[in-house]
Amino acid sequence: MGYSIAIDGPAGAGKSTVAKMIAKRKGFIYVDTGAMYRAMALYFLEEGIGADDKEKIRESAKNADITISYENGEQVVWLNGRNVNGLIRTEQVGNMTSAVSVNKAVREKLVELQQALAQKENVVMDGRDIGTCVLPDADVKVYLTADSRVRAKRRYEELLAKGSDCDLDEIEKDIIERDYRDMHRELSPLKQADDATLLDTSDMSIEQVADAIIGMCG
Ligand code: DC
Repeated sequence: MGYSIAIDGPAGAGKSTVAKMIAKRKGFIYVDTGAMYRAMALYFLEEGIGADDKEKIRESAKNADITISYENGEQVVWLNGRNVNGLIRTEQVGNMTSAVSVNKAVREKLVELQQALAQKENVVMDGRDIGTCVLPDADVKVYLTADSRVRAKRRYEELLAKGSDCDLDEIEKDIIERDYRDMHRELSPLKQADDATLLDTSDMSIEQVADAIIGMCG
């Protein structure tokens, strides 16, 4: 078992930016579990399977072969042998992901992959259920959150930078809906693990958050 840092929290709390920075500073592998769920959602979208079609999702989850590799320190997600990094960051895929990640078949498959990675590497892993389900014995557990307007603004700026056309109110509405669904699903809902440290990043810079988490590592 490697050293592990688990970072959970709602969309836009700054998890991936902070996790990447920590991974770089500590020389750990960054495991973006959301990207794996996103690749799975992309598969269902491309197959024309509806978010509510539980039966089809259960049957076909096994046909989505998802693996990850690292190129120059960047995680690459492969869906059936195809690099899908460039396709999984849209709002459409994000919303579909939140909807399909309630399914047991989807979660079991991806959790297994995530645990195998943490077994052989030192990892910074971010997601919704890392401290509670995937790595209950993580060395450091953090729950990152921020005000929903602040989180919407961060997503908005990210999308603008990529040249997407977007609306701040719409994004905030999506974020609130997505969080509600992630927090209220039956399987592995988003919640703070009892032994996780809560960090509200509304008024913190990325560097301050990374410093605080690195300070928790023994
Ligand atoms: O972190 P993200 O926005 O890329 O995650 C997309 C969706 O994936 C999120 O709404 C819920 C789901 N997810 C999950 O259920 N469990 C995880 N460990 C990571 C993401």
